[in-house]
Amino acid sequence: MEANDNTDELHHSSSPHSGRAQATLTDSNIFIIIVAVTSVILLVVLALIIIMLRRLKSSKKSSNADWSGNGIKCPSGDFTGLRAVSYNSSPDVKGGCLYVGSLGRVGAPIPNSNGRSCRTARGVQVFTYKELEAATDRFNDGNVIGNGGFGVIYRGVLSDGTVAAIKMLHREGKQGEHAFRVEVDLLSRLHSPYLVDLLGYCADQSHRLLVFEYMPHGSLQAHLHPSSQCNHQVQCMPLDWGTRLRIALDCARALEFLHEHAVPSVIHRDFKCTNVLLGRNFCAKVSDFGLAKMGSDKINGQISTRVLGTTGYLAPEYASTGKLTTKSDVYSYGVVLLELLTGRVPVDTKRGPGEQVLVSWALPRLTNREKLEEMVDPALKGQYSKKELIQVAAIAAVCVQSEADYRPIMTDIVQSLIPLVKNYSAISSPNSMRFQYPTLSPSFRC
Ligand SMILES: Nc1ncnc2c1ncn2[C@@H]1O[C@H](COP(=O)(O)OP(=O)(O)OP(=O)(O)O)[C@@H](O)[C@H]1O
Ligand SMILES: [Mg+2]
Repeated sequence: MEANDNTDELHHSSSPHSGRAQATLTDSNIFIIIVAVTSVILLVVLALIIIMLRRLKSSKKSSNADWSGNGIKCPSGDFTGLRAVSYNSSPDVKGGCLYVGSLGRVGAPIPNSNGRSCRTARGVQVFTYKELEAATDRFNDGNVIGNGGFGVIYRGVLSDGTVAAIKMLHREGKQGEHAFRVEVDLLSRLHSPYLVDLLGYCADQSHRLLVFEYMPHGSLQAHLHPSSQCNHQVQCMPLDWGTRLRIALDCARALEFLHEHAVPSVIHRDFKCTNVLLGRNFCAKVSDFGLAKMGSDKINGQISTRVLGTTGYLAPEYASTGKLTTKSDVYSYGVVLLELLTGRVPVDTKRGPGEQVLVSWALPRLTNREKLEEMVDPALKGQYSKKELIQVAAIAAVCVQSEADYRPIMTDIVQSLIPLVKNYSAISSPNSMRFQYPTLSPSFRC
């Protein structure tokens, strides 16, 4: 009982103290909770601000340059772009061809940094087989303008009156199918005044057709080596020195665009005279991207691949090891420059020993001022100055060096050719096939 009383006393006497302690604890708890909640709120707000700022920054960046998930740049100015074409985008089959959307155009216009569409007026059109049949008068033999490794090219008139070059790809072989896909994918995204424009395509189980802008003067091959491709469609004529310089500059700009402006860079892999096409005023554009490789496939700056391309144009390191870099294109460019300079083909088995392979024959002569003039195409006699000749020969010589690292980049070649072309245009005669090249903007030159 006493103990109980004591306990009671104890109990009673401790009660007021514990009540005070509880009250004190509750106050501090409330304070801690308020501080914690406020800090959490502040942290959330801070995080939100950071996220918003980052988003703002990245949206600015993407509207300036890399505008889509496919990684190809849409630079301002002359180059425009379009989203990658998807062949597998649940298309309807109409008239034997795939149809994507009622407008027949794929890829929405993408705004660039100026808020304008990157590709407002032009789109890659999807044609029906019937449309292309009608355009070529049922693929009439009379409309054949070329016959290459991958297919036959027809001249055609589209329903809106546009004259086009329509390439019907051979049906057999996986290489053709791959080339078709690469060409549609790359050309629907890369646009430059120095590349032949892809107007559209047609694809179904058995038909693969590519529709290109029509280049009225045909290939550079036809004019440099006339026996090969002259017909009623393309009248071949010898090209004068000024025109050859301008073609060399246009081609250099095309490769410069592929190597240095496109992101990721593109290696053409089949740069040669038949893939240089001539338009109005003999402006030159590069065509045929079926063998092209994207720089994103690179390992240690180079791509290891099956050796494809054309004999006489292949860089030695690519031919022997399959290691492909942009410098492989530079070598092929050097071979084309030699063709422009000498009028000779890259490999000519009809010539005597030591003269059959153009590069081996030309290299020692390119650096010998006495012998240099002997190697120039006789059709160019009296049209060039010795200084110009030495400069062009020097460019060709560095491009076809066996050591890839010592070959120049295309930008350097462009910069070396610009003064030559400007100088030549300034003294051009009114009757020449040349025109005032430097004064015209690239988009109006063809
Ligand atoms: N867009 C075009 N406009 C006018 N003619 C063209 C066009 N595209 C091609 N040609 C003509 O058709 C020819 C054959 O072209 P194609 O690309 O099929 O084969 P190639 O270049 O001769 O050989 P490869 O198949 O090895 O590339 C060209 O040399 C050219 O004369
Ligand atoms: Mg070709």
